[in-house]
Amino acid sequence: MKYPSLFRPITLKGVTFPNRIMRTSMVSGLATEDGHVTDELKKRYQREAMGGVGSIVVEAAVVLPSRSSYNLRISDDSFTEELKGLVAAIREASAEPKLGIQIMHFLKISRSGWRQKVTDFKPEDLPVIVEQHVNAAKRAVAAGFDFIELHMAHAYTLSSFLSLSNDRADEYGGPSLKNRMRLPIEVYEAVRRDVGDGFPLGVRINGEDFTIRGTTLLQSTRIAKKFAELGADYISVSAGSRFEDAPTPPANTPPDPMSGYSGHRMSPEWWFPDMTHVYLAEPIRQTVRDAGYDVPIVTAGKIRTPKQAERILEQGKADIIGLCRALLCDPDFPKKAKEGEDKDIVQCTACNWCLEADSRMEKVNCSRWPEGNLAAPVPWHKKDARASALARDAEP
Ligand SMILES: Cc1cc2nc3c(=O)[nH]c(=O)nc-3n(C[C@H](O)[C@H](O)[C@H](O)COP(=O)(O)O)c2cc1C
Repeated sequence: MKYPSLFRPITLKGVTFPNRIMRTSMVSGLATEDGHVTDELKKRYQREAMGGVGSIVVEAAVVLPSRSSYNLRISDDSFTEELKGLVAAIREASAEPKLGIQIMHFLKISRSGWRQKVTDFKPEDLPVIVEQHVNAAKRAVAAGFDFIELHMAHAYTLSSFLSLSNDRADEYGGPSLKNRMRLPIEVYEAVRRDVGDGFPLGVRINGEDFTIRGTTLLQSTRIAKKFAELGADYISVSAGSRFEDAPTPPANTPPDPMSGYSGHRMSPEWWFPDMTHVYLAEPIRQTVRDAGYDVPIVTAGKIRTPKQAERILEQGKADIIGLCRALLCDPDFPKKAKEGEDKDIVQCTACNWCLEADSRMEKVNCSRWPEGNLAAPVPWHKKDARASALARDAEP
């Protein structure tokens, strides 16, 4: 076996991921405008499941009833049956990967350029946020997911409470990390009480916000240590995608958290070095280990080859390798790595065609697929990717 660390199973609360490759959450734009599961969405995940990935975190599902076009929803009980259908469809394609769902509460934005901030929530709104996460978690369990991920990274509500930019004057914000962690902890503890100690519950945080007065490693190492102490089953380390440094959008366009430097850090483009965020995961892992916890740490960010992934694990810099764009581009990456067919992996170019589609609220696809595809073809070889590039270039 060429990559023994990558293909070593890992068990969280009795749920065994067959290998260390986790498909991190990726908004697909394939849900209906009001957040329902579609056949295109099912097919996207079915295709990814067939490629040998160890675990899949289904895209951020909205926990609150507010409008959020084309985002998957888990905001009321009517979504449970269709999410059950999604889980069944993915398992039908492959029973191998363990399936999680990321649950997310977002801050509202409008075309006028207004965006909601954590300071806009009244004290009585906060228990509602907790309850919305608990109800979403109940639905995720009822739908048959193997694990749940609480979204505490990027531009969203819980991340914004954690961020050093949280200017609330009460016990839920301000310069005290304990205060900024209060709501995320209340959410974590309430969801944990509901799903029970035996159910895998992970959290995704920012290692760095990459904004002035945003969270840095100084805070994220402490945040991770606290969630380890509280019994989180994994901590996924991401970065950036904050609104604070986003340029003012053109008239009648909502603010875009991806448009500033921070935004460009979440899914590092071609000009960033490979394995961009491993240097954030490593000290977070070390801090957690030094405190006596063995919670697995997930790292993601422009990891493009099995060799890189193996080295990260071998060197003890992380425990699980998060791949998002690399698996969109070639869902067979894990299978090809396992079979020693690395050279046939269709490599993500980090062009962010996918992310730009997401920002325009279009269906997310990959620039390396044949035009019009909403999932990688089957079979999918490097020569096919070259042929489709040539076909595109030949068009008048
Ligand atoms: C189109 C797109 C949508 C994404 N949606 C989410 C999301 O819903 N939740 C999340 O935590 N991260 C999201 N991400 C970030 C990825 O999970 C991942 O952390 C990031 O792209 C870096 O990994 P990669 O280099 O393997 O793509 C998204 C990324 C892309 C490109």
